[in-house]
Amino acid sequence: MILRLVVLLSGHGSTLQALLDAIASKQLHAKICAVISDQPHAFGLQRAHQAHIPCHVISRKLGRTRQAFDDILQQCMSDYQPDLIVLAGFMRLLGPRIVDAFAGKIINIHPALLPKYRGLNTYERVLASKDKYHGSTVHIVTQACDAGPNLAQVRTPIDANDTVDSLEQRVKQLEQQLYPRVLQWFAEQRVRQQGDHIYLDGVLLPKSGKIFAPETLL
Ligand code: GRF
Repeated sequence: MILRLVVLLSGHGSTLQALLDAIASKQLHAKICAVISDQPHAFGLQRAHQAHIPCHVISRKLGRTRQAFDDILQQCMSDYQPDLIVLAGFMRLLGPRIVDAFAGKIINIHPALLPKYRGLNTYERVLASKDKYHGSTVHIVTQACDAGPNLAQVRTPIDANDTVDSLEQRVKQLEQQLYPRVLQWFAEQRVRQQGDHIYLDGVLLPKSGKIFAPETLL
């Protein structure tokens, strides 16, 4: 099937670009029906325009309540009847009503080996730790931030000379390969969710999600 996707972003949009490239090369059988940003100047919007994808900016305007923001966002997403909502660097938490309305259909990629380092500044935090690995996780979004059941992870060793920039560059390169692969599972209808359990081709995935070795992605 061709997945109908709505992509939410706030920034540079390299994740969106990776999805567009995977669609163009037919590795991902999907159509991006719309891109929605909470940031009017997000570079990701320019990428979407260039690809002739309808764009919407829903900003947290002065005086607009959290609830009003969520209502507008939910309506805008529903209008496109998406199979999946894909978070691609969207820097706002989705309200509980939205998460409920699209339960099991909102997917996120988070630059950490969840459940470690939920939230922001994962690169700074992992470099300040004694961890030997960092990476990225694709997961289903639930009410708690970055806590949803995991679909897949890729990990990379942390080098003694790594900086935030070098590590981020390496992880981003991997996640841009990982994300389309995992979304393609949905296009092929290989994923089933039962509560916190994720089955891929009928087989229960470990809590980490399926682990990809970097060399299988690059
Ligand atoms: C990605 O690295 C992803 O892990 C995180 O946000 C980043 C978005 O980057 N959720 P970009 O705006 O797509 O370049």
